[in-house]
Amino acid sequence: MALTQSGSTRDGWSSRTAFILAAIGSAVGLGNLVRFPAEAGANGGGAFVMFYILCVILIGLPVLLSETLIGRHGQAAAPESFRKVAEHSGKSTAWEHVASLGVFSAFVVLSFYCVLGGWVLYYIGTFVGDLFSTGVVGGAFSDSTVAEVEALFPAMISDGITTSILDLVFLGITLFFVARGVSGGIEKVALYLMPAFFVLLVGITIYGMFGGAMGQTVDYLFTFEPEKLTGPVMLAAVGQAFFSLSLGVAGMVTYGAYVGRNVNLGVTSGIIASADTMVALLAGLCIFPIVFAAGLSPNGGLGLMFQTLPHAFQEIPGGSLIGLAFFIMVGFAALTSSVALMEVPTAWIIDRFRFTRAVASGMVTVFAGALGVLCALSTGVLAGFHPLAFFPMFEGMGMLDAMDTLTGKITMPIGALLTSIFVGWIANKRLVDSENGLGGALHVFWRFLVCWLCPIALAAILLVGVFPSFIE
Ligand code: PFF
Repeated sequence: MALTQSGSTRDGWSSRTAFILAAIGSAVGLGNLVRFPAEAGANGGGAFVMFYILCVILIGLPVLLSETLIGRHGQAAAPESFRKVAEHSGKSTAWEHVASLGVFSAFVVLSFYCVLGGWVLYYIGTFVGDLFSTGVVGGAFSDSTVAEVEALFPAMISDGITTSILDLVFLGITLFFVARGVSGGIEKVALYLMPAFFVLLVGITIYGMFGGAMGQTVDYLFTFEPEKLTGPVMLAAVGQAFFSLSLGVAGMVTYGAYVGRNVNLGVTSGIIASADTMVALLAGLCIFPIVFAAGLSPNGGLGLMFQTLPHAFQEIPGGSLIGLAFFIMVGFAALTSSVALMEVPTAWIIDRFRFTRAVASGMVTVFAGALGVLCALSTGVLAGFHPLAFFPMFEGMGMLDAMDTLTGKITMPIGALLTSIFVGWIANKRLVDSENGLGGALHVFWRFLVCWLCPIALAAILLVGVFPSFIE
C-alpha cells in the first residue's frame, strides 16, 4: 500500500484536496437540497437564512473542527480516536462511548437515507422514460395532467416492493465505493461526483436566472424581517446547520482520521463549512425560481422535491432534460453522503474486530438493508407499525419518521453536545491546541465557542426537540 496523507501505510486520503472534497461530499446532500429550502420556506425566508449562516459560523464550525481534530489525533475509527484523546489527556476512556453513539446514529441515518436515495433513483428513471417518450423541447410529462404527475409520489412510496429494491440498489452502489477503501473508492466518488454536482447546480441555477422567477426568489430568501426571527425559527436554523454539516454522528471524526499531520484543520474546516453553506444557498436559488416561474407555492418538506418540482418541470421549456439533470445532481449529492455514513460503522468494525474492509462494509450493508426495507415499507404496507410509539414524541410515526426523529432530534444533538464538552472541558488543552491550527484571537474565540456557546445551544435544541411544548 502506498504512503498516504496520514504519513503511514494505513489507508488515507491521497491529498488535502481529496479530504476537502470528500468532507464536502459528506456535508452536501439531501439536507442542502431538500431540507434547507423547505426549512427556509417554513421559517420566514430571510430571517431563517441569516440566522442559519450565523449558526454555521458560531456552532457548526467549532464542532466541525472539534470532530476532525479528535479523528486526526486518534488516526483510528471514531470510538478508538476518542479513547486515545481521553487517554492522552489522562481522562476516563468511557468518553469513547460518545463516538459509539455516533456509530449507531450513522448506521440508522444510513438505513433511511438510502431509502430516500432509492426514491431519487425512481425519479431519475421516470425522467429518462419521459425524455424518450415526450422529447427534449417541451415541458416534462407533456402527455400527463398535473394531478397525474403529483400522484407519482404517493403511488411510489406506497409501492413497497419497488422502494425496497431501489433502497437496496442505492445501498449496493454505496457499498461498491466503501468496499474499495479510502483512497481507492471513497475519495474517487467525491473527486468525480462533487465537481459534476457543482457544474449541474450552477447550470440549473443559471437556467433559473434567465428562465425562472429569480427576483421573487431573492426577495423570498434574503429579505430580512427581524420580527420573523422567533425562538422556533432560531432553533430550526441551529438544527439545520449541524444536520447539514454532518455533525454529531462521528462522521467527521472518521474522515479526520485519514488526514495527514501537515493539513491545517482550522482552514479546511472553514472551507468545508463555506462550501456547504454556499450549496444550500445555491439550492434555494436553483429550486425556487423554477417553482415560482410555474406559479406554484413553495410548500415545504418532501412534497417540494417530489411533487412541486416535477410539476414545475412540466411547465417549463426543456423540463424533461432539466428535471433529469436535477435528479441526477441530487443522486450524486446523496451518494457522497451515504458513502460517508457507511464509512463510520465500517471503520469501527475494521478497528474493533479486525475484519477485512470487504467483510465489514458487507455486514453494514446487510443490517442497513434490513432496517432500510422496514423504513421503505413504512410508507406502504407497514404504515400502521409504530415502533417507538411508547415514547410520546414518536406517537403515530412509522419506521422512517421514527428513525429520522430518533437521530435528528435525539442522538445527533447528544453526540454533538458531548463532543463539544469533551473538546472544550475534558481533553488536554495543549493536545487540542496542537491539532486545531488556529492562532491568536481566533483561537481564543474558538475556545469560547466550544466551551460555552456550543454546549448551551445544543442543549437548547435537545430540550426543544424532546419537549416541543417547552417553547409553546
Ligand atoms: N449532511 C448530509 C446532508 O446534508 O444531507 C447528511 C449527513 C451525511 C449527515 C453524513 C451525517 C453524515 F455523517
